[in-house]
Amino acid sequence: MAFKNLSYLIILISLYLSLSLSKPHRNTHPPPTPSPPSPTYPNPQETSPALGQWALLQKSIGISAMHMQLLYNNKLIIFDRTDFGLSNLSLPSGKCRYNDEIIDIDCTAHSISYDVALNTYRPLMVQTDFWCSSAAVFPDGTLLQTGGYLAGAKKIRQFSPCDDEQCDWIELEQNLTVQRWYASNQILPDGRIIIVGGRRAFSYEFFPKNQENVTLNGDFYLKFLRETSDFQEENNLYPFLHVLPDGNLFIFANQRSVLLDYTNHRVLKEYPVIPLAKRSYPATGSSVLLPLKLKAGEAFPEAEVMICGGSYGGAYLKARVGEYVAASNSCGRLKVSDPDPKWVMEEMPMGRVMPDMLLVPTGDVVILNGAGRGTAGWERAEDPVLYPILFSNDVEDPKKRFTVLNPTIIARMYHSAATLLPDGRILVGGSNPHIQYNFSNVKYPTELSLEAFSPPYLAADLRHLQPSIISVEYPTDYGQQFSVMFSLGQDVKTGVINVVMIAPSFTTHSFAMNQRLLVLDSSDVQQLSDVAYKATVSAPSSRNVAPPGYYMLFVVNEGVPSHCVWIKMNV
Ligand SMILES: *[C@@H]1O[C@H](CO)[C@@H](O)[C@H](O)[C@H]1NC(C)=O
Ligand SMILES: *[C@@H]1O[C@H](CO)[C@@H](O)[C@H](O)[C@H]1NC(C)=O
Ligand SMILES: *[C@@H]1O[C@H](CO)[C@@H](O)[C@H](O)[C@H]1NC(C)=O
Ligand SMILES: *[C@@H]1O[C@H](CO)[C@@H](O)[C@H](O)[C@H]1NC(C)=O
Repeated sequence: MAFKNLSYLIILISLYLSLSLSKPHRNTHPPPTPSPPSPTYPNPQETSPALGQWALLQKSIGISAMHMQLLYNNKLIIFDRTDFGLSNLSLPSGKCRYNDEIIDIDCTAHSISYDVALNTYRPLMVQTDFWCSSAAVFPDGTLLQTGGYLAGAKKIRQFSPCDDEQCDWIELEQNLTVQRWYASNQILPDGRIIIVGGRRAFSYEFFPKNQENVTLNGDFYLKFLRETSDFQEENNLYPFLHVLPDGNLFIFANQRSVLLDYTNHRVLKEYPVIPLAKRSYPATGSSVLLPLKLKAGEAFPEAEVMICGGSYGGAYLKARVGEYVAASNSCGRLKVSDPDPKWVMEEMPMGRVMPDMLLVPTGDVVILNGAGRGTAGWERAEDPVLYPILFSNDVEDPKKRFTVLNPTIIARMYHSAATLLPDGRILVGGSNPHIQYNFSNVKYPTELSLEAFSPPYLAADLRHLQPSIISVEYPTDYGQQFSVMFSLGQDVKTGVINVVMIAPSFTTHSFAMNQRLLVLDSSDVQQLSDVAYKATVSAPSSRNVAPPGYYMLFVVNEGVPSHCVWIKMNV
């Protein structure tokens, strides 16, 4: 691959403009009308707006939102699986799949494209099963999805975003080297995607493959993946992956973690074992790389991983016989960039298995979805945790770092997902702990709904603090200064403006793959007029710090973020 053009492209039009310019849909298959808000949410007057707010976006999108990815055109690709039976959303007329392993004819969709601004969706068609799979976005904005189940287990599929509503999944001719079911993906600094692990897949591989050298073209055995697989329970699937500022890959599975030099195929070091619970599927916890705070000219910002929730060894087998073990309330933080780091443990206000952990523009972490007892897997959990938690990264006192937020009314158990939206809300969907679609006679019915959670920073009484991005100038290289113009209805106080970049995640099974938040070094905020300001910031120093691709750029004023503008870091 060539890395000649280091300049970034920039989408000059802010989200606000792009939303107002969104083209109307074609009439080939008009999107269903948005469903009215549910009357059953707690009355906003009775809940504190300072603790966030829930809204029902869609009662049903026809499929269960098990996997989701936001693309740079403000549309999400959402999918469940093709071996559930018929979904509640028809494919456009004439389209069907025939004779797969489960069903003779299936003319229903198992994937959609969801338009954030319009709150509409359209069915997509996939040929083979992408259940419990993984994905990442290439630097050009194309989603690359790998693996799945049965005939889909070695498949590689691609989705290129479009504005005319005509684009759909494309299955590539090439296959994965081995079957990958419950693997994780990560975009690398060199623009390739690495695919790690999966059930009985104790190796990693890349896409695209090395064309010059066949011996580097297959998969690479990683003993760590075999060693972390527990007898009968596994507890090491969907490994947590984070690219560290030195370019190496942090891989966490079960309770262990290593640093992998994937270029020379060497494990560089092993970190200490995280105490207490197991953290990987089906003892599912979640993991984030905490915000990287960048300083101009500094190549290696401090990097810290935080892993929360999960359940204990044996909990999965116990759940099979109806004994649901209380989930862990522990979080561990590890300064992975230190030469000799130790886990620092803290406690969430409640235990949680299958938490989603999302980085939000303020640099905090919202933890939501999941259950209080049991594990991931069919019918394996009880006690939905309806309350999100805010982890405030900069609060010194550990007792004050966690805030319990306003609850939802919808249980989001196994197979639910969540992701950050361009306006700072969090999209929440999915939940299906059953082997088929079951809408009645079960305790936790299959959820086809979509909700949005507005974190506390979106409260109406903070609106006067919200900046609006006017434009972003082109930086010409990694490490260069560039400026962000924004408006604000009041004076900017000193030291309260942050400019952050967030890589959107591919979320499934409680892990937001590729999620990354960079706090840019800001040298100066200049007032241009009564309402207009210019912040001068430094671009990330290298591709190791910011792997190439599309990022959401937010201006945050006194803890209140603007809507994002998409910027592209080129390979
Ligand atoms: C899905 O369709 C079935 C059959 O028409 C119906 O009974 C069920 O209520 C629908 N589920 C949802 C969540 O809309
Ligand atoms: C990929 O796998 C399919 C099904 O096993 C096979 O038909 C096809 O030839 C493979 N493609 C390549 C490029 O090897
Ligand atoms: C291919 O890569 C292997 C492993 O790095 C190396 O030993 C071998 O010499 C390479 N072959 C060629 C033709 O470059
Ligand atoms: C779930 O749905 C499937 C398929 O419709 C049905 O066979 C099964 O009995 C349902 N399970 C329950 C518990 O209702």
